[in-house]
Amino acid sequence: MHERFAVITGASSGIGYELARRAAEDGHALLICADEPEIEDAADKLRRLGASVETMNIDLSARKGFEEMWSRIADRDIDLFFANAGRALGDAFHEQDWAEIRRRIDLNTIQTTLALHRVGRKMAHRGQGRILVTASIGGFAPGPFAAVYNATKAYLDSLCYALHDEWKDSGVTLTCLMPGPTETPIFTRDRNRLQDAPITAREKDDPGEVARAGYDAMMAGESGVVPGFTSKVITMLSGVLPESLKARIHRAGAEPDRTKD
Ligand SMILES: NC(=O)c1ccc[n+]([C@@H]2O[C@H](COP(=O)([O-])OP(=O)(O)OC[C@H]3O[C@@H](n4cnc5c(N)ncnc54)[C@H](OP(=O)(O)O)[C@@H]3O)[C@@H](O)[C@H]2O)c1
Repeated sequence: MHERFAVITGASSGIGYELARRAAEDGHALLICADEPEIEDAADKLRRLGASVETMNIDLSARKGFEEMWSRIADRDIDLFFANAGRALGDAFHEQDWAEIRRRIDLNTIQTTLALHRVGRKMAHRGQGRILVTASIGGFAPGPFAAVYNATKAYLDSLCYALHDEWKDSGVTLTCLMPGPTETPIFTRDRNRLQDAPITAREKDDPGEVARAGYDAMMAGESGVVPGFTSKVITMLSGVLPESLKARIHRAGAEPDRTKD
């Protein structure tokens, strides 16, 4: 019998690790990727659950990294694909490095689109497959002090709903996972510049619960899911509030608290 196979990008920590755990518990063999050696620690934990796990330590913000991953999966039947790798970037837009801004656009949008194009085409030819993209409720609001990050997620939210509709008769499902603030290392990694944002110190959703909601929605073939009651309310309000007010609310959670310096 065909061994069910799942590929998860950005699975070394946070939501991606929890998605990989769900797929492993559901009996899939895994290929997990991240940009740092910590991916091996994640693989060890997943193997303890009885899963067969391959790892790749690759930079998915570069075309070369994606092609390396593709060369490992192009000839295999992919049952589940999780486009989860992503990076945030806090602080004032004009204080951020251009290279870091560019890297967020490359990783979160361009490279994710490339992955969906290749994997989606392959699944459509086979007539089956499920994809989950980790976007964000940040895509529903302009994000002062995380402006480019939110813009990349707005792009993903839109792309996902469009592709879900395009592929509805193809046997391929694409589900958009739109978490609200979730307790993961994304807030404390130096490179993401979020340490002094007020949101970092606040209570956030549990990554295991967020992943469970995403996984279940994916298996049910839903178009999108916003996990958690508070995030659902925020999403509903975002449909009626003016953009300028949403920007002001976002600023309150994202503007770095310099009184700490
Ligand atoms: N946490 C939240 O509040 C929240 C809310 C909404 C959406 N999200 C989205 O959820 C996804 C997962 O984030 P998370 O919160 O779980 O944070 P995280 O713990 O920092 O996880 C990010 C994952 O992506 C990997 N990654 C980052 N850059 C990469 C690159 N260039 N190449 C390959 N892998 C890379 C990271 O591995 P390395 O460290 O090895 O690079 C890590 O495994 C992201 O797309 C994020 O935007 C998070």
